Amino acid sequence: MDKPRQRVFFALWPEPDVARALHDAARLAHTACGGRLMQRDTLHITLAFLGDVDAGQLDAACKVAAGVAAEKVGAGETVLTLDRLGYWPHNHIVWAGCDPASVALPALGDIAGDLAARLRERGFPIDNRPFVAHATLLRNARCQGELPPLPPVAWPAREFVLVASQLEPDGPHYRILRRWPLG
Ligand code: 2AM
Repeated sequence: MDKPRQRVFFALWPEPDVARALHDAARLAHTACGGRLMQRDTLHITLAFLGDVDAGQLDAACKVAAGVAAEKVGAGETVLTLDRLGYWPHNHIVWAGCDPASVALPALGDIAGDLAARLRERGFPIDNRPFVAHATLLRNARCQGELPPLPPVAWPAREFVLVASQLEPDGPHYRILRRWPLG
């Protein structure tokens, strides 16, 4: 019998107060743009998407994550300030993100970049597109006018996680498999 495979990705997962603030913003955006509202306890920022992996690959990915996390010890805390909503017409996603000049973005980009580079070295087919820090709030949205403002939400990146995603008829179900502290 084939070994079970899991669809997994690395992400920042918010504390409940951050998730609540983002979900409030998502509900406001939903009244303007419609689409599918992401559930509060599923909001996240993806760092690297791995896709379907077997047990051996999962183990290899965890070793990569442990190495990246170990290098960030003593790097200080990264606090993202999410202060804007955006809409990508090509995939109909409404997202929350940061000022592109935010000083926290290079630190987060480093983590995402290190994960992606080392996973690629180990043969994982990681997307080549540049990392864009965003938390998806709505899918299948159609936005024409302006999006509501997002009162700044401070998101301390204290850890990153490995998440398993199971696709169900009502949308993906996420389960956190492992956690690594940051900073
Ligand atoms: P998105 O929110 O911008 O769609 C789980 O699917 C998470 O992994 C989502 O946050 C999704 O980003 C991200 N992701 C990145 N690349 C993906 C891919 N090729 N397929 C599905 N999800 C991907």
